[in-house]
Amino acid sequence: MAFFLLLSLALCSLASPLLKRQAPAGVPQYVLDYAPIVYLYSGEKYLPSDIGAQLTNTHPDLNFTAITDGPKPLTLDNLNELNNVNGANDGANIYLTSNENVATNPAYLNGVLPDSKGSTSPAVSCAVIVVDRGSNSVDAFFMYFYAFNYGGSYVDYVIGDHVGDWEHNMVRFQNGVPQAVWYSQHSNGEAFTYNATEKYNNGVRPISYSANGTHANYAITGKHDHTIPDVNLPDGLIVDYTDKGPLWDPTLSAYYYTYDEGTERFAAYNDSTPVNWLYFLGAWGDEQYPTSNPDQDCPIPDITELCKYVSGPTGPITKDLNRTEVCPDNGIPCIIRPVLTP
Ligand SMILES: *[C@@H]1O[C@H](CO)[C@@H](O)[C@H](O)[C@H]1NC(C)=O
Ligand SMILES: *[C@@H]1O[C@H](CO)[C@@H](O)[C@H](O)[C@H]1NC(C)=O
Ligand SMILES: *[C@@H]1O[C@H](CO)[C@@H](O)[C@H](O)[C@H]1NC(C)=O
Ligand SMILES: *[C@@H]1O[C@H](CO)[C@@H](O)[C@H](O)[C@H]1NC(C)=O
Ligand SMILES: *[C@@H]1O[C@H](CO)[C@@H](O)[C@H](O)[C@H]1NC(C)=O
Repeated sequence: MAFFLLLSLALCSLASPLLKRQAPAGVPQYVLDYAPIVYLYSGEKYLPSDIGAQLTNTHPDLNFTAITDGPKPLTLDNLNELNNVNGANDGANIYLTSNENVATNPAYLNGVLPDSKGSTSPAVSCAVIVVDRGSNSVDAFFMYFYAFNYGGSYVDYVIGDHVGDWEHNMVRFQNGVPQAVWYSQHSNGEAFTYNATEKYNNGVRPISYSANGTHANYAITGKHDHTIPDVNLPDGLIVDYTDKGPLWDPTLSAYYYTYDEGTERFAAYNDSTPVNWLYFLGAWGDEQYPTSNPDQDCPIPDITELCKYVSGPTGPITKDLNRTEVCPDNGIPCIIRPVLTP
């Protein structure tokens, strides 16, 4: 009896350190304690994906042509060298382009369904970036990676598909206490007070609902109309859907970094974690196909944003890691909502 009691006590006391061991030493405990938990959409076909696998499933293109210079093989340790190849324009002209025709829906685009614990391991599908802002203020970014974004269908058209998708939550801390949470959505997003957010299992971790296909992050389930930029409505013409589908705990299979605002350098908490890919300034998916491409479909020919396929996104470095407000520094007023909204 006593033996079993001791054994179960030992197991209990081990349980939390075992979970904590998922992150390398040095990551502030509050960053892990208050990390968002993500509910994917129940019908999601484009799940979280391994960041490094995107490099093997794609090749770098410049002006729709595979580049011949640049590092080979491309890895998370040398991806940044693409910024410097001829004509790269500091990476802005480089597009990691699918090896297989995207219109044939190659399997890698579907990503990885999290296991029963919510982990995508061995696929590493998240980068956690801790930014010390001074004065005991810390921003923890949780960058989510998906190999593909399904844009959604409007009337009879699918619009806004792209290879590669980077979305994020950010939790702002003061003295290790969470203050507010940012939810990225399309070109901007929403901020809420930490207190307002729904918590996982009545605990302390905020819930983020990832929308079907677009992976925009919302604080509640349901419909989210985003026809008018920065005005989310409960229904309308261009709608994102969220619900309590598969649970994803991004912290369970993530790379962990710090970012220094002054030197603009990243550093990994774990010496074995690749760092250089974070400096890549190019796109993580194909460049928008011209209308001459038979897979492309632009219902309103003069509005090139409204096409079936658009360009892939840039990576975490372009997400305003040094932001002043909880929202990105984009000139749009930053409202920290005290109550949950679509
Ligand atoms: C550090 O990274 C290596 C390689 O990914 C991994 O095997 C190891 O478990 C990590 N260590 C910690 C403490 O996270
Ligand atoms: C969810 O996305 C899939 C494509 O991945 C689409 O077929 C389906 O209609 C979408 N569901 C809703 C409710 O929009
Ligand atoms: C891109 O390629 C096209 C066709 O090969 C060529 O006409 C055009 O000048 C190139 N653009 C740039 C910026 O190199
Ligand atoms: C959040 O709620 C806690 C507990 O109710 C309270 O102590 C704290 O002051 C609140 N924080 C903010 C920023 O409102
Ligand atoms: C943050 O970084 C961006 C891009 O690196 C730069 O343009 C901006 O001036 C920086 N802002 C602050 C507040 O340092």
